[in-house]
Amino acid sequence: MHRINLLSQRLANQIAAGEVVERPASVVKELLENSLDSGATRLDIDVEQGGVKLIRVRDNGSGIQKDDLALALSRHATSKITELADLESIGSLGFRGEALASISSVSRLSLQSLAAAASDGLAWQVQVEGQDMEAAVTPVSHPEGTTVEVRDLFFNTPARRKFLRTEKTEFGRIEETVKRLALSRFDVQFTLNHNKRSVHQLQAARSDFEKQRRVGLVCGPAFVENSVFVDMERAGLRLWGWVSLPTFSRSQADLQYFYVNGRIIRDKLVAHAIKQAYRDVLFHGRHPAYVLYLELSSAAVDVNVHPTKHEVRFRDSRLVHDFLFSALHKALAEVRPEDHIAASADAAEAPANQLQPGTSDDFYQMESQKPLTLSESGSVHQLSDYSRGAERGQYYQPSAQPRPQLDSLAKLYEADEEIPPLGYAIAQLHGIYILAQNKDGLIVVDMHAA
Ligand SMILES: Nc1ncnc2c1ncn2[C@@H]1O[C@H](COP(=O)(O)OP(=O)(O)OP(=O)(O)O)[C@@H](O)[C@H]1O
Ligand SMILES: [Mg+2]
Repeated sequence: MHRINLLSQRLANQIAAGEVVERPASVVKELLENSLDSGATRLDIDVEQGGVKLIRVRDNGSGIQKDDLALALSRHATSKITELADLESIGSLGFRGEALASISSVSRLSLQSLAAAASDGLAWQVQVEGQDMEAAVTPVSHPEGTTVEVRDLFFNTPARRKFLRTEKTEFGRIEETVKRLALSRFDVQFTLNHNKRSVHQLQAARSDFEKQRRVGLVCGPAFVENSVFVDMERAGLRLWGWVSLPTFSRSQADLQYFYVNGRIIRDKLVAHAIKQAYRDVLFHGRHPAYVLYLELSSAAVDVNVHPTKHEVRFRDSRLVHDFLFSALHKALAEVRPEDHIAASADAAEAPANQLQPGTSDDFYQMESQKPLTLSESGSVHQLSDYSRGAERGQYYQPSAQPRPQLDSLAKLYEADEEIPPLGYAIAQLHGIYILAQNKDGLIVVDMHAA
């Protein structure tokens, strides 16, 4: 056994980088989050060769003061929290003080900034290369805000580089990252260029119409056409956003954006609540599409669960689950055929980014969207309301009763696999009968009697 050594700072950063910087898209995420935290209203992203050669993010935020520039690249250096208590209610996207240190340990990084607070109006730059060099601060010309350039990602960690996929795949992930953030901040303008070609230009969206237009540009117009807008509030929780109609189900869970206090998250509890809400109206194996925002007190949710901050922990997870489930279940139960123009199955299946532009603004007609109110009665559909969708064989008859609430969260995940008494629809016959499969075998359901 060797003796114990303290790792050099550089090696420690490279090890830590493994957690935060998995691929070019993770760099983009961290840089954009920093820009958003700095109060920027405009973000310009330039990418070359899928981000491996260059990722440049320019913002018009508050900037970094000269004396803080080198510090910004050090591990555990952050302006966002100062004490443990701050972790209890985090309002910023970053707080760990390690993203720039990690990125700079596996790339050639330069940081240029003019701080709003700089009384002399001078901008400064620091450059580091795999943290081999001492960060030297030199004067530079730069407007108020910050530009971070990350070149030659993983140039000094060849093993990591080998895990990268094709340029197209890596850029696709970057684009997805930008989309996620663009949906989290309608008030911010985003531009994205790849190999000097413009890929996205999203103007700041203020009115409801403009917001919906952005959702259409990011998720595809067919999603907006085939979704309803929801906005509900209960017990200090607010849920708003767009949820797809049962007719717009997808074979993959690829059009699902869920934000908690502006941060995109992936959460089992959330996914389960939404799945349950759609259970009666979607074929087994189909996935709903949604862009949803949950807002609650920052003290009611812990974001310090994982280095990538993709996971959260709710203090009262039962409350959150029940709220999401009942809000969406009722919203779906209120859907009337006139709330939407049925999508063609092809449109529902096309990748979101193939559904974009080339469309006129009229495509995002506000008329096709009606806010749904959360009525306590939970109204029941007339089957005829569903006949159009049913003819298309896309969804199953919704249950008249809201699903019973789950007894405990422990049961939650097991319940997921429970098969409903009438099973899952697998086909529709003559527009009248549904052929379903449950745990005992095949059953035929007369839709008018069910
Ligand atoms: N674009 C920017 N504009 C202004 N300040 C920035 C910008 N990017 C980074 N900073 C400053 O540099 C510090 C370090 O950034 P870094 O991303 O490493 O850590 P963090 O954002 O505080 O936490 P996390 O590791 O969770 O992202 C930030 O706290 C912030 O003060
Ligand atoms: Mg950060």
